[in-house]
Amino acid sequence: MDIRSQQAPLAQIAADWLIVPHWEAEPLSPSTAELDQALAGLLTKLRERGDATGKAKELVPILNPTGIAATRVLLVGLGQKSKADVGTLVTAAAVASKSITTKPHDRIAMAVPTDAPGLSFETAATAIGVGLRQGSEGPGLRKSKADRTAPKECILVSPPTTTDAAQAAKRAGIEGQAVSLARELVNLPPCDLYPETFADRARQVAQTSGVEAVVFDETQLAAERMGSLLAVARGSDRPPRLVILRYQGAGPGKKTLGLVGKGVTFDSGGLSLKTNDQMVDMKCDMAGAAAVLAAVAACADLKLPVNLLGILALVENLPSGKAMKLGDVLRARNGKTIEVLNTDAEGRLILADALSYAVDQKVDHLVDLATLTGACLVALGSEVAGVMSNNDDWSARVLDAARAAGEKAWPLPMWPLYNEMIHSDVADIRNTGGSRYAGAISAAKFLEEFVANVPWAHLDIAGPAWAERESASRESGGTGAFVRSLIELARRYS
Ligand code: BES
Ligand code: MN
Ligand code: ZN
Repeated sequence: MDIRSQQAPLAQIAADWLIVPHWEAEPLSPSTAELDQALAGLLTKLRERGDATGKAKELVPILNPTGIAATRVLLVGLGQKSKADVGTLVTAAAVASKSITTKPHDRIAMAVPTDAPGLSFETAATAIGVGLRQGSEGPGLRKSKADRTAPKECILVSPPTTTDAAQAAKRAGIEGQAVSLARELVNLPPCDLYPETFADRARQVAQTSGVEAVVFDETQLAAERMGSLLAVARGSDRPPRLVILRYQGAGPGKKTLGLVGKGVTFDSGGLSLKTNDQMVDMKCDMAGAAAVLAAVAACADLKLPVNLLGILALVENLPSGKAMKLGDVLRARNGKTIEVLNTDAEGRLILADALSYAVDQKVDHLVDLATLTGACLVALGSEVAGVMSNNDDWSARVLDAARAAGEKAWPLPMWPLYNEMIHSDVADIRNTGGSRYAGAISAAKFLEEFVANVPWAHLDIAGPAWAERESASRESGGTGAFVRSLIELARRYS
């Protein structure tokens, strides 16, 4: 899908669909009012009669309009202007495109709202572009007959006075593609996406974006003393991989931001086997790694002046005669010993080694993304990420970036009182919290043991990475959550 900008009156936009957003209880924007005139006041009439209210996610299709260049018009409600943010625009564009991409179209266009409170034109255009793409794609990657087709071309329409329209469309295209890549990787079946194939794909993506990629196989992982990650991988016939991505947009001597992603391409639980219901969606357990790959590639495509180290920790968690056992004691890369009391707490075991590797590469700040605990879903619900950190300033910066990207993240405490949850009688630490309480935090407390003094924030994306059901704005499956937050964080880091 190509995203382009066009600066022209809406009535002159030739497209299969022209998507026109409008606010609830606000006058039409100047460019929409002009379109209304070309349509002989049709929009005004629809609004006066209450057929188009502008309520969030409301869709009013106008088929075969006369007096304008587009074949069809789709009015989409933005809701109340005072409550709008980036998420509002992404959702409105996605709802609109989801409703029309069940049929193939060559060209859809959408007017970029230029009056959303506090949003620059570029931010608004990016949100619209990302949303259009989000609504155009779904999980049906392996259907013989596609049930949804992304349009060949998406036009972001802006007023003739806009100065940065082409730049904004470029950014929208890059960020939309990044979210789309993360969703695709999550949606791929685990028979096709496993550590080796994920690493191959990462190498390809990196090459296309001009990012340096190094892939460690099991021999190199052993040489790097990654005993904790290797213990998880042992249960599977598929060997693990660690992908190291380097993008030096700021040049040498500048600070480096480390991004680490959990990439469990399938989580059966290992010997602590999950039930069928718990296991059925566990191809999603590599969403953190997918987000890191997508974000690093996007930052390179955007040529952001930032130095990034991206690490993808890729394993399969399966039970077998070689699988790690309950009671095993592992030695992680940083020398700490870990008592395994539940093989389903595997994410923290692979992140332990990936985080200490990042620390050894002298990163200045760290963020990890992981579908780490069901407990985070219990705490915050399925649409919000938990943020846990060893540094309040850094955590505030991460939360701010997420807010600016229109993604929902919320802090959970890391007080020393939680330290005892990872106490072990036989090793330095144990890999479960010992009780069902505060499970997202005990997992983060475990990770904290591997980040030394580096300011670090852990995002538990177990909820938002995966949509169990479809909604008006998105099909079910992978969501690409926090890809845009990472890009925004990198933008601000530079
Ligand atoms: N991958 C799961 C967490 C998860 C659960 C992600 C639901 C997405 C949706 C993780 O590896 C896991 O199994 N965590 C355990 C930890 C427990 C054994 C301490 C959990 O949350 O039950
Ligand atoms: Mn697990
Ligand atoms: Zn897992």
